[in-house]
Amino acid sequence: MSTSSVGMSGPPVEPFSLDFYQDPHPTYAWLREHRPVHPMQFAGVRVWLLTRYADVRAVFNDPRMSVNQETANADFLAAGLDYGSGTEMVQALLFKDPPDHTRIRALASKVFTPRRIAGWQDTVERISNQLLDELDPHQKIELQDAYCYRLPIMVIGEVLGMPRDDHRKLRQWMDPLVGLSREEALAGTKSMMNYVRDIITAKRTDPADDVISALIAARDGDQKLTEDELVGNVFGLVSAGFETTASLIGNALLALLDHPGQLRLLQEDPALMDRAVEELLRYDGPTATTIFRFPREDVRIGGSVIPAGEPILMALGAANRDPEVFSDPDTLDVRRDDNPHISFGRGIHHCLGAALARLEGKIALRTLLRRYPDIGLAVSRQQIRYKSALIVRGLEELPVVLRP
Ligand code: HEM
Repeated sequence: MSTSSVGMSGPPVEPFSLDFYQDPHPTYAWLREHRPVHPMQFAGVRVWLLTRYADVRAVFNDPRMSVNQETANADFLAAGLDYGSGTEMVQALLFKDPPDHTRIRALASKVFTPRRIAGWQDTVERISNQLLDELDPHQKIELQDAYCYRLPIMVIGEVLGMPRDDHRKLRQWMDPLVGLSREEALAGTKSMMNYVRDIITAKRTDPADDVISALIAARDGDQKLTEDELVGNVFGLVSAGFETTASLIGNALLALLDHPGQLRLLQEDPALMDRAVEELLRYDGPTATTIFRFPREDVRIGGSVIPAGEPILMALGAANRDPEVFSDPDTLDVRRDDNPHISFGRGIHHCLGAALARLEGKIALRTLLRRYPDIGLAVSRQQIRYKSALIVRGLEELPVVLRP
């Protein structure tokens, strides 16, 4: 126990309280050191928060852990913490355990190949430039909306094969999933499911060179995706791939503006971009936590026993700064080479879109910094706020001037 924290009976700020989101790291550091398996109240339910890298990695790889919300205990279900129950969303990969997960993932992986994703580079570049063309470089601009959000929604809309005029609708439906009430979230989910079902019907008769048509056609022996699995997983791709990537771009840009020396290094040597994006994913990545895990039997983690069915949350933002794994974990170092960050998860649910997210992150930053190397904040740093959201860590707004 470090001397500075002797006598401190709890973390400096309660996890997931309002102040926590603005700077979670002192709380994470305290928990990692003193209570790495932390039972806490969340929405009236006991939730176990894990902050150490080794524990997080072990849970990712533990076959006793389920993501199926039906394995949760009664408290969790009664509190309405389950996500998308009663909709096709439960068919999405993230909420499926083996053997269904194995079967669906094999089919989805045939579509989300590294080769196909690499082929989207021109699309991402075109969309980045197009969005920047629309902005007045001398005016104050809210970049989080105008660029960081619009880029991934347009990319995912286009690669899935959704008509361009509909991309704005995707955003409207997804927004309520982050933060608003359960009713609003469910209404957004249902509208989006209906829309996705209609598109799938249209693509069945009129396929094109896009991800939805490829998912419809994907076969593994005599296996193929059912209609509900298609709907749930197309929805899953939009919801997993948009807010996260938007937050990666915004958080990354803010971290670079906070560290002008690191920004300069990157500008002087663009070949550092690959490493820099990994470091930005580690330093202030967009996935604060994973989705919940529910142990199928009582499990021992560290010195604690977590009873079957009790929800476990893994704080990836904490694991990514574990001093047992990373040297100088609180330092942003765009040249860091030994960087096994865990922002895309591990094990069977490892992010299916990681290659696309990396491509978008690199191109978004490269295009912006090449065109506007002197970009700066348009407000004081204290005015920049993070959203109070459990899973995705992202900025409320990012007001900048592109060419001060
Ligand atoms: C799963 C992170 C972008 C699709 C995950 C998981 C993480 C993650 C941590 C595992 C969650 C868990 O185990 O609880 C990220 C980050 C992104 C990003 C940090 C952006 C920077 C994307 C994109 C797509 C995508 C662009 C697709 C277009 C998925 C899917 C899964 C997933 C389908 C579920 C995989 C499975 O359960 O087998 N992602 N993601 N993600 N991600 Fe991503």
